[in-house]
Amino acid sequence: MIRYDFSGRVALVTGSSRGIGAAIATAFSAAGATTIVHYWNDPSGQNRRDAEELVQQLQAREQAPPVHLLAADVREAAEVEALMRQVQERCGGLDILVNNAGILRDRSLRKMTLEDWHAVLRTNLDGVFYCCKYAVDILREGGRIVNIASVAGLVGFHGQTNYAAAKAGVIGLTRVLAKELARRQITVNAVAPGVIQTAMLGELRPEVLAEYLKQIPVGRLGTPQDVAHAVLFLASDESSYITGQVLPVTGGWI
Ligand code: NAI
Repeated sequence: MIRYDFSGRVALVTGSSRGIGAAIATAFSAAGATTIVHYWNDPSGQNRRDAEELVQQLQAREQAPPVHLLAADVREAAEVEALMRQVQERCGGLDILVNNAGILRDRSLRKMTLEDWHAVLRTNLDGVFYCCKYAVDILREGGRIVNIASVAGLVGFHGQTNYAAAKAGVIGLTRVLAKELARRQITVNAVAPGVIQTAMLGELRPEVLAEYLKQIPVGRLGTPQDVAHAVLFLASDESSYITGQVLPVTGGWI
């Protein structure tokens, strides 16, 4: 892995209690960033326990940079606003925002309930808008926003009208915000993962997964670390002339 040095930078990764978000937070912390592990305090308490465990792991490393733990439901604008206020109070500002939190509720259009539609749009698109909206004022000059979109936002897959609409929306938001923030030297890019091995895949039927695997040229599913590597590049100084772009992380698929 390229050894980036993010010491002195503050990175917030939404939904980093597990999966891709946890891998991204781990990579930032290993590269010296003050890292904010963010989670949604779901009724089961599982996300909080996962997030606390991750914070402990990160802090246990030798010469670990500071790690903060903050909660918010990205569907709730007021909670996101309070989250960014806490980031400002604790860290004095923000350098890197990674919008990773997301959910999947696949069903064909006929079977999709209004609840399925709104749940995905609220989390995956409204949530990204709220995080960007309330972070822009605390993002420092030269900051970075990296949105975790999906190839589903570029190509349509069966049963994903809600998910594809939300992720395509995130890509559109990324392109516009890149233009709006360019004057402050803040870049805004999206990563579009293909099929990545996380709990989210549990939502896919095994035969669908096997079919995807056959089509991936490198012959394996992606790992959360594969996505983290792309995010760190887009958050680094080396990518300062790249903005408003979508980087597929798919093993050559699509
Ligand atoms: P995951 O289900 O393991 O993680 C999703 C995270 O989002 C969890 O930490 C969850 O608690 C959090 N989250 C859910 N609702 C939230 C809310 N209302 N407020 C705050 N946080 C909330 O899934 P995974 O795979 O790690 O997904 C991460 C991102 O990557 C998502 O945006 C997903 O759409 C995207 N992605 C994943 C792919 C995959 O194959 N796993 C492929 C393409 C994109």
